[in-house]
Amino acid sequence: MTYAAAVLRRCDELAAFTEEEGRLTRRYATPALWQAGETVREWMEAAGIEVRRDAIGNLIGRLGDGDRRTLLVGSHLDTVRDAGRYDGVLGVLVAIACAERLRDDGRSLPYTLEVLAFADEEGVRYGTGYLGSSVVAGCFDTADLERRDAGGVKLADAVRAFGGDPDGLAGDRREPADLIGYYEVHIEQGPVLEGDGVPLGVVTAIAGQTGGRIVFTGEAGHAGTVPMALRRDALGAAAEFVTALETVARERDGVVATVGSVGVEPGARNVIPGRVVLSVDVRHASDPVRDAVLAGLRKRAGAIADARGVGLEWQVGTGTRAVDTSAALADKVAEAVAASGHPVVRLPSGAGHDAVMLSRIAPIAMLFVRCAGGVSHNPGESVTVEDVAAAIDATTRFLELVG
Ligand code: GLV
Ligand code: MN
Ligand code: MN
Repeated sequence: MTYAAAVLRRCDELAAFTEEEGRLTRRYATPALWQAGETVREWMEAAGIEVRRDAIGNLIGRLGDGDRRTLLVGSHLDTVRDAGRYDGVLGVLVAIACAERLRDDGRSLPYTLEVLAFADEEGVRYGTGYLGSSVVAGCFDTADLERRDAGGVKLADAVRAFGGDPDGLAGDRREPADLIGYYEVHIEQGPVLEGDGVPLGVVTAIAGQTGGRIVFTGEAGHAGTVPMALRRDALGAAAEFVTALETVARERDGVVATVGSVGVEPGARNVIPGRVVLSVDVRHASDPVRDAVLAGLRKRAGAIADARGVGLEWQVGTGTRAVDTSAALADKVAEAVAASGHPVVRLPSGAGHDAVMLSRIAPIAMLFVRCAGGVSHNPGESVTVEDVAAAIDATTRFLELVG
């Protein structure tokens, strides 16, 4: 079997590790994530990579002798709800395939290669992303350890249950001076490469994003007896906000804004909604534009709440700023893509990636792989074996160029 075919087969195998029967959902610190990680550990060890888990549960595979400078290569093993099987996983498995190929060809690298499989990028369980890579980058916010998941489990307890150590997170920060850089292969999650008819893309920048939640609090009451004029319906306010968000986003080129989850309490046919919690996600390539959109949305939410006599809690932080990839490393990725016989297309990423966190301690580079229809965060995610082969070939060349 070719390396690419093996990668696709492994993506299929990992898709079986899920929290939910019949669909792929693998959130931080769940048994499904643990099993996926242990399976990846076996593949790494079979490839001659020495593996450990760090204090948050990231898998860290090390190839080469400990004294030399290190290139980090990786992506994440967690998923969104009802996910596709390539977002994150593909980058980890391509890295392992490259290590296998180098070993099979009897080639070694003049530096230490570390393959990282992050335990949380999507942030689905605790409502905040990059838990894994923020530990490696030394920017994990310890206040997040108090966060609770939907079942009331504190993040600190989830870290412990996953074999980690919430008090030891700071100790896993990597020393920038030791690092050559961080490189990540990822499906594009957009339509550009398919439109251009090319398998690979060199990432120039990663857009900033802000995520958070807002809460409208009205008053629960009897659906049959409280007259319409006397209601303080929290879901009515939330619905108005969702359509206002769409309008605000459409007013500016390139802005994308999403309410992806809505929690209605108490949540019964015959009870007026008393409390609604909405997730909010706002992105744009320019940080000032995103900041302005958020300020506008906050004002709109306030006006909606005032007009309906409901309370508003705005729990939306500043988010992550847009980051550029390293020009020097991106040029090496481009050289590797060209040497593999493919046209060089450079493009920015609208999605967030672990590379955003790693950019705080190392120069970063990313290679995108074409995916059918640009579809992602959806079970319809799909890549071809030829494109994965191209990614393995270009990545192997990149690893040799970096040395
Ligand atoms: C990561 O998947 C993101 O939400 O951008
Ligand atoms: Mn994702
Ligand atoms: Mn991803």
